[in-house]
Amino acid sequence: MNLDLSEEHLMIQQAARDFANTECLPGVIERDEKMRFPKEQVLKLADLGFMGMMVNEKYGGAGLDTLSYVIAMEEISKVDASTSVCMSVNNSLVCWGLEAFGTEKQKQQYLTPLAQGKKDGELYIGAFLLSEPEAGSDATSQQTTAEDKGDYYLINGTKNWITNGSSASVYLVMAQTDRSKGSKGINAFIVEKNWPGITVGPKENKMGIRGSDTHSIQFNDVKVPKENRIGEDGFGFKFAMQVLSGGRIGIAAQALGIAAGALERSVAYAKERKSFGKPIIDHQAIQFKLADMATRVEAARLLLYKAALDKDNGRNYAASSAMAKVFASETAMWAATEAVQIHGGYGYVKEYHVERLMRDAKITQIYEGTSEVQRIVIGRSLQ
Ligand code: CAA
Ligand code: FAD
Repeated sequence: MNLDLSEEHLMIQQAARDFANTECLPGVIERDEKMRFPKEQVLKLADLGFMGMMVNEKYGGAGLDTLSYVIAMEEISKVDASTSVCMSVNNSLVCWGLEAFGTEKQKQQYLTPLAQGKKDGELYIGAFLLSEPEAGSDATSQQTTAEDKGDYYLINGTKNWITNGSSASVYLVMAQTDRSKGSKGINAFIVEKNWPGITVGPKENKMGIRGSDTHSIQFNDVKVPKENRIGEDGFGFKFAMQVLSGGRIGIAAQALGIAAGALERSVAYAKERKSFGKPIIDHQAIQFKLADMATRVEAARLLLYKAALDKDNGRNYAASSAMAKVFASETAMWAATEAVQIHGGYGYVKEYHVERLMRDAKITQIYEGTSEVQRIVIGRSLQ
């Protein structure tokens, strides 16, 4: 594995770092407190080409590789995981899913503006609707139905916990057409949020990533034209699983960013804060914490780059993305907790950021497949 980043990768890293510090950092505490969606930041990310990073230029994307994407995701997540989850869902679940499996017409109509993050100058992003109130990890047991009515489908049911739920214009919806066929009876559809019969529930009041807008979405006799189905009849579950393998690389990058942000803040603080006549970084107990954090952050980065390179080089990445996600998210939770400890009482208040990193870290162990689900995926790859 060649780990030397190219000039282009280093430029993307610098651009993302600058963006995070100049555009995301100001106001990040207030957005978290007030649960305010980072619309201004997402529009600026769109201008940078970061909302459709891996999409071919002919569909409005930046035409970059997965490694570029994870490098950018890490930098933005160091500062603002609410903004980076929006970026991750649009890039790796929505845009990648449409580019890999959509028809030419679907790509022209939906992918092109989604990859640009804008349509007619307005925010234009997507959401991925798989989970339901009674079906999260056990995604095949979903209850939402898509009844085949000839030239259209009729969707009924409720999706839960949908990231970008109210900000998105386009939903990728998984629903059951023929329950008797199990996972092969599920279809995936492109649905526009403003179609009749769709109701967006209230914004969830969350522990972390509070700026991100998470909503339940109800479907009541929503008519979806047949041409908006993705792939062949019954392809919906495989679509979701394949898309999630890529999505997990994005969330692993988010988790890595949170862990690396916790480390950077902790090193800076430990050099400044004095106790017993010396900077706390000179106490071996603190130095060992930082050493362990740095080691685990580096290991998470290596696993992440490996998964990104597997995807870029056409190798199977279902297991490597699961490994990257489970390791990076557990590192994020642990490193952010250590960061609070290193900051002492100051770590417990908002202005030092690390308590937010700790709250934000937790979700990376839950969404896009819990840590237990990642272990199921990895375990099955060994059988
Ligand atoms: N690629 C291609 N096909 C795949 C696949 C993959 N990665 N994983 C599974 N499949 C196929 C299987 O081969 C199988 O097909 P066949 O019947 O033809 O062999 C079919 O899909 C069913 O697979 P399983 O029998 O393995 O399915 P399962 O019911 O045992 O579930 C699971 C497996 C891994 C637990 C899966 O249900 C899962 O990933 N659950 C977690 C769901 C999840 O990650 N949700 C995230 C929602 S999005 C989100 O969270 C976004 C956000 O927060 C920002
Ligand atoms: P459950 O599946 O009920 O799991 C409960 C516990 O049991 C977990 O610890 C789980 O790991 C464990 N468990 C379950 N089955 C097994 C098993 N077989 N073996 C071992 N342990 C098991 N979903 C979307 O579709 N789109 C989104 O955009 C989206 N965004 C989200 C944003 C947020 C903030 C949150 C909180 C969730 C989001 N989700 C989204 C849903 C998320 O993917 C699910 O919450 C997740 O997949 C877990 O499902 P669940 O909550 O139903 O937990």
